Amino acid sequence: MWKGRFTEETHETVRRFTQSLDVDWRLAAADIRGSVAHVRMLAHIGLLTPEEARTLEEHLFAIGRDIDAGILVPKESLEDVHMNIEAALIERCGSLGAKLHAGRSRNDQVATTMRLFLREALLDVWGRLEVLLETLQQKAGEHRDVVVPGYTHLQQAQPISMGQYWMAYFWAFLRDAERLLAAYHSCDACPLGAGALAGSTLPLDREFTARDLGFSRITENSMDSVAQRDYLLDVHYFFVSFGLHASRLAEDLIIYSSTEFGWIELPDAFCTGSSIMPQKKNPDVLELLRGKAGQFVGHMTDLMVSVKGLPLTYNRDLQEDKRGLWASFEVYFQILSVLPDLLARVGVSAEKARRGFSDGFIFATDVAEYLVGRGIPFREAHEKVGRLVRWCVEEKRALTGLSSDEWRRLLPEAEADLPGLLVPETSVERRKTLGGTSPEQVRWQQAQGMDALNGLRETFRGKKEILSGT
Ligand code: ARG
Repeated sequence: MWKGRFTEETHETVRRFTQSLDVDWRLAAADIRGSVAHVRMLAHIGLLTPEEARTLEEHLFAIGRDIDAGILVPKESLEDVHMNIEAALIERCGSLGAKLHAGRSRNDQVATTMRLFLREALLDVWGRLEVLLETLQQKAGEHRDVVVPGYTHLQQAQPISMGQYWMAYFWAFLRDAERLLAAYHSCDACPLGAGALAGSTLPLDREFTARDLGFSRITENSMDSVAQRDYLLDVHYFFVSFGLHASRLAEDLIIYSSTEFGWIELPDAFCTGSSIMPQKKNPDVLELLRGKAGQFVGHMTDLMVSVKGLPLTYNRDLQEDKRGLWASFEVYFQILSVLPDLLARVGVSAEKARRGFSDGFIFATDVAEYLVGRGIPFREAHEKVGRLVRWCVEEKRALTGLSSDEWRRLLPEAEADLPGLLVPETSVERRKTLGGTSPEQVRWQQAQGMDALNGLRETFRGKKEILSGT
């Protein structure tokens, strides 16, 4: 393609080293769609006749079909997806095909193609996230009235509704869906027409191509358009945040299902056994999920390191922006191929969870707040209850096993109604603050969450409609 300037052929090893077909051939359909828009625009500004444009468009789509059918396979000597498609077009319609690249560079072309490809891909990403969010809603409904221990520092802290736990992750993943939407917005700007870096002397109509491709806007600066990859970092950050959340969920379930905790039951079909220890039921799926999530961080770091200190504008380093991103997509789909199904079948043993309440210390905050309700300053109440707990520890007694005499002696401010409040269900029900763990508040969150989820569904459906119209 650049033979004019050169006196010798590209070295064989250089061809192999510089090619990007292994990572960009999957962009063929998006690249063709971008070229079709460019052709239509060239006709619109009079650089192609309507007849020429029609012929080019038909050939481009035919090339797309041949690629799908495996008839047209890429040549490594043609370096990348863009050159392969353009070469095929020239092969099929000669000098007319050679008119395609007017006013365009691979720099703005690859930026456009990536954004086109990602818009579609991110809608698929949403489709899987939607299933996860629905599953968490269902779990919250299923376990709204099941009380389990809640932890801080991995020490028993206060009783919670298991529905509250599931909703905690619902909200985290819902924010990830908003991050996904933000990433989509970053991708939804058309850089075509930026050329190599400075725009073009030809009267290109950038608004025309952007509209034809269903972009919501054009990028504002030609140099910025070809040099920056922050729209990809936004996609990466979605994956990173999702992965961090998923890894913590996996870790919780691993811990809660261990013999020492034991109140979560994992479905047998999602666990594996040991080749030597017959009793083992291992949470390998969750462990792999926790392990795989780290790759998102690695791939984002990879791209950040690539762009750090990179001079404006395009540099070939940027070609390496795809490898890690595709790998993140793959890991994401792998994780979501198992996670919702696994969660759907996670059970809770209310009876084993109850063991966590046997010494009654988990109700200590309830007692302190009871005293506050009787006018005692919180710090004083905290100290009184702390002393009471210490007495229980020393005497090997449960806070919930004290006689009325002992209550009168050890905490004179407590009246007869207090012991009746130190019951898991009651304790949880009384935490009615907005967003608190009472079943009533979990129900409220579910309703809020459903509204938010439906809003996102609507927004993504709108995006899909725009794309299917292009
Ligand atoms: N394959 C290249 C990439 O993915 C296309 C752009 C090449 N541009 C260039 N000036 N060599 O980034």
